[in-house]
Amino acid sequence: MTWAPFYIGDGVPRNVDLGDPPPWRTFPRRSLHREFQPPADLIEAVNAALALRRPLLITGPPGSGKSTVIEQVAQELKLGSVLRWHITSRSTIAESLYRYDALGRIHAQRLEGHQGSDDIEPFIQMGPLGTALLPADLPRALLIDEIDKSDLDLPSDLLDVLERGEFEIPELTRYRRKVVRVREWLGDSSQPVIEGRVQCTTFPFIVMTSNGERDFSAAFLRRCIRYTMPTPTVETLRNIVAAHLQISEEHSTSVDALIANFVERLTSGESLALDQLLNAVRVLTAERAPQGDDAQAVTQLLLRELSRV
Ligand SMILES: Nc1ncnc2c1ncn2[C@@H]1O[C@H](COP(=O)(O)OP(=O)(O)OP(=O)(O)O)[C@@H](O)[C@H]1O
Ligand SMILES: [Mg+2]
Repeated sequence: MTWAPFYIGDGVPRNVDLGDPPPWRTFPRRSLHREFQPPADLIEAVNAALALRRPLLITGPPGSGKSTVIEQVAQELKLGSVLRWHITSRSTIAESLYRYDALGRIHAQRLEGHQGSDDIEPFIQMGPLGTALLPADLPRALLIDEIDKSDLDLPSDLLDVLERGEFEIPELTRYRRKVVRVREWLGDSSQPVIEGRVQCTTFPFIVMTSNGERDFSAAFLRRCIRYTMPTPTVETLRNIVAAHLQISEEHSTSVDALIANFVERLTSGESLALDQLLNAVRVLTAERAPQGDDAQAVTQLLLRELSRV
């Protein structure tokens, strides 16, 4: 008998009730701005980045909350939806500025024949960085996630765009109309672009995250406000767990023990993410929670070290 009898391995079809998902695994995804408990000095770093109009570079281990910070800042300061740019080794500055569907446009021109319009508007869209640089009263919030995974040249190309706060869309510079409306990255809104030139009026609030897998140049670092996520203490973890889950009196001792063990392992140099702790707390405090040996086995399963497969 297992603790959560969904799958039992007998191959016999049955109807199951999976119960409610953990609050952080409901879809469509909900922003976690209420639950996020910032370390105190992170607040200083965010405010410095906002005041100085500089990007904030957050470094820290997996699951330490690097990607969540911006959701809270954007909600609290009413900066609108967070524009996200997830970096891989193939990411380029060009794709994050704007995208032009040249083939789609040629295809549409062919279909419409000679009397058809050759309107460029439907075939051009701002990328996340391009949208963040559009003129605005309030800064847009832009998350450049996992910048340490980028190609070597990307950080300096990015700096160049951010220093100037402007870029050009050559397809529009050459276009027969002076003003073209270009769609933003999120939603349906569009903004006029004049003679293909985008010039930012308010520097966006930019958070770049890194797992520290690579070093950045001094030229890059000096233009950012840098912050490293601290190793959480028992106290902060209690607050974080309480922010995500309601822990009843009967479970408080076992949750405290989980937290204490988690901090001990972190301090001894093991790599563990906060979401692993949240998962373990959730499973062990849910209805039909595993007991005794099952509880032990599940805790081990969920809290496996990250540097080992
Ligand atoms: N300080 C915190 N307060 C509340 N929840 C937190 C905190 N830090 C992390 N979490 C939770 O832990 C989970 C992981 O956070 P997040 O994805 O932001 O980590 P990350 O540092 O970006 O990790 P990765 O490097 O793997 O991308 C999220 O569900 C988030 O809500
Ligand atoms: Mg992340």
